[in-house]
Amino acid sequence: MLRETFLFLSRRRALRRWMETSPLAARLTRRFIAGQRLEDGIAVARRLYSENILATLDHLGENVASPDEALAARVCIEQALDAIAAAALPATVSIKLTQFGLDISDSLCRANVEAVQQKARSIGSRVEIDMESSEYVDRTLRLIEDLHSANGALRAVLQAYLYRTHDDLRRLAALRIPIRLCKGAYNEPPSVAWPRKSDVNASYARLARILLDEGEDPAFATHDPRMIDLVLEHAARCGRSPATFEFQMLYGVRRDLQSMLVANGFRLRLYVPYGDAWYPYFMRRLAERPANVLFILRNLFRR
Ligand code: FDA
Repeated sequence: MLRETFLFLSRRRALRRWMETSPLAARLTRRFIAGQRLEDGIAVARRLYSENILATLDHLGENVASPDEALAARVCIEQALDAIAAAALPATVSIKLTQFGLDISDSLCRANVEAVQQKARSIGSRVEIDMESSEYVDRTLRLIEDLHSANGALRAVLQAYLYRTHDDLRRLAALRIPIRLCKGAYNEPPSVAWPRKSDVNASYARLARILLDEGEDPAFATHDPRMIDLVLEHAARCGRSPATFEFQMLYGVRRDLQSMLVANGFRLRLYVPYGDAWYPYFMRRLAERPANVLFILRNLFRR
């Protein structure tokens, strides 16, 4: 119920405008969001790297309605890649195709992604393409499959809650496309996704094993200790060295687990969001775990 409420609030425009411009914003969000500027994202990525943690930088923003806005989103990512190169960080960038113009046209979106893909490749980085709601999955995967064969330097994201993901995972793994496996964060109907959490977890477990068996440089994006244990057990069973896969978590979430993984020599990458369009991202984090409201309130009153 609370999850639905936060997901509903994540789509309210007036509340979003008020929140994004409120002076309280930085204090409210600092646990999960690096700050409003690229420099804030880079500063966090540097700090994490000094703690042996990698980063993927996410310039916050979602659906854009005009080619100019899509171009602006692309320029932000190009600047992020320049900053990553200047700071000599082994960081990647994460993007959403609706930020790059997917709602406007496939070809416009493709041109924008190709530009950042080439820049990422030229600096030895990678563009991780977040997966959005189920209506976008076909077009997102088609674009990734085309662009990967031409230039590499991409990572796809698959969501374990979708029935279709098993087939997508086998196909992408056969094409040697690196995959980030997550449970899935959107409100999907039972016609396309498992409604019960236990089924989503079972699906994640099945897919994670296949990904370890067949995937190229796989990433397991989860804060669920049971999923992490299962990945570690299966990796040990199939003889995968820790250098050949990574865990990914969200900045500010389960810092205890993050420290444990790094202390045990596992590769960890944090998803580090920055930018002023932070509202939908922030609300989805509250939807995942309403107890986060308590964290936030505590931060608000802490000096
Ligand atoms: P689950 O939700 O079962 O949580 C397990 C435990 O983790 C909880 O009991 C709690 O302890 C902790 N936890 C989880 N979320 C928390 C939070 N917000 N605050 C505090 N504790 C929390 N989704 C998507 O649809 N498309 C995408 O592209 C991505 N990309 C992505 C990248 C990365 C790096 C991560 C970590 C996640 C995503 N996701 C995503 C989100 C993902 O689909 C999912 O919604 C969340 O990761 C929560 O799922 P868990 O696997 O953590 O398990």
